[in-house]
Amino acid sequence: MARKPDRRSFGGGSRDIQGGNRVRLVAFRALRRVSAEAGYANLVVADVLRETGLTGKDAAAVTDMVSAACRWQGTLDRIIAAAAGRELSTLQPAVVDVLRLGAVLWAESTPAHAVVSEMVTLARNAIGERVSGLVNAVMRRVVGKPIPEWLAELSAGMDMLDALSVRHAHPRWIVAVFAELLPANELEAALNADNIPPVPTLVARPGLIARDALLAAGGGAPTAYSPYGVTRPGNPAELSPVRIGWAGVQDEGSQLVTLAAVRAATAYPVSGPWLDMCAGPGGKAALLSGLAAEQGRTLLANELQPHRARLVAQALRGYPGGTHLVVTADARTAPWRESSFALTVADAPCSGLGALRRRPDSRWRREPKSISELSELQRDLMESAVRATAPGGVVAWITCSPHPDETAAIVNHAAAIHGLTLLDAPSFLPEVPDAAAASDSRFVQLWPHRHGTDAMFLALAVKPH
Ligand SMILES: C[S@@+](CC[C@H](N)C(=O)[O-])C[C@H]1O[C@@H](n2cnc3c(N)ncnc32)[C@H](O)[C@@H]1O
Repeated sequence: MARKPDRRSFGGGSRDIQGGNRVRLVAFRALRRVSAEAGYANLVVADVLRETGLTGKDAAAVTDMVSAACRWQGTLDRIIAAAAGRELSTLQPAVVDVLRLGAVLWAESTPAHAVVSEMVTLARNAIGERVSGLVNAVMRRVVGKPIPEWLAELSAGMDMLDALSVRHAHPRWIVAVFAELLPANELEAALNADNIPPVPTLVARPGLIARDALLAAGGGAPTAYSPYGVTRPGNPAELSPVRIGWAGVQDEGSQLVTLAAVRAATAYPVSGPWLDMCAGPGGKAALLSGLAAEQGRTLLANELQPHRARLVAQALRGYPGGTHLVVTADARTAPWRESSFALTVADAPCSGLGALRRRPDSRWRREPKSISELSELQRDLMESAVRATAPGGVVAWITCSPHPDETAAIVNHAAAIHGLTLLDAPSFLPEVPDAAAASDSRFVQLWPHRHGTDAMFLALAVKPH
């Protein structure tokens, strides 16, 4: 008889959902919330782990399974559709999620008989007896071939972009964007890098803790380029410097573009405070605050969303009052004096195409229109940034996207209108090799496969006198 999914069984440990089966069931529940309720995978998994009390290896197994099922979704779905011999839309969505998890286990070299029996058990427990036959039949066909054979078969006869889209689990339009931006011989490496979840990177906040002291407190390794970064597997919240705000979680690419902006402002000094115009949740604001204090500057950190402004204040809590101010406002209405900031950092809301490796589900949510929808806001924010900056001061345009419409197009448009001088941004990061964007060597474009960072973009411009 069909059994209804039962949330109480999460934490309960009833006899049929112990051990491995319990992990599979929790992963299934999380994946359902991502698929059916459009939850963000990272947040949903964190919620579900909290609700179930799973920790340690079990929590890691759930995180890995759900992340892989989300990351590889487009390709898994093609395999499942081929194995089922029918469109996925004709299958119950919960069944599709079970099959996705099964295909992930198969991709991770779980023995064929274990994949089939575990997924049949999962389907029976979580959905009902009536679907177990179907799950059994489709799973048997999925495990009938190693994944590389599936990929070869599915991509046979496709053009290059479609074939890469299948083999590396990216929507075709994103493959096409990357193909425009990268030399042909780097394209596969770039797509592959998006499929490798990054080791957490910490920042030792200047003026609060030295990097060596952070390393001594929690181990890990110094980052390749940022003088403040530490890569360290494990939960950052275990570390007391992180808990008290002396250190934080921050991708090395974000550290580098912030550092480059500060170096440019130092090279083009005018009087005035610094402005972080889009500051939430506060990673760059905290680094900027420490670097501003070193130069006797103050920082105004602005954020539109009140809850994100609170996160900015939280990120800045290690620094003494008086060195920074956090405000909540729409930067387009510019609630500050025009032409008053020596450095304005506009870390704009963007598609996040440069951070796909850390957001497993986001590539399948984005569409080309996700980019055009942001264009007007991005242009307005750039306009505000230029207006806020003092003559002779520096504007830094930063995105965690390499897409030309969110990067070069916004900057070139503003430069043409306002007569901005575009600086050679890579020259402010001399320690980082191959940091220049292929389309325009005045811009910094970092890449996961080249630099081990998110694909951060940075343009630096000086406002005319
Ligand atoms: C890419 S995030 C900034 C990340 C942040 N600088 C950091 O390093 O932690 C962009 C931020 O801009 C904010 N934002 C969006 N529209 C805005 C506006 N009109 N004015 C100010 N902030 C805005 C978003 O809420 C989001 O927090």
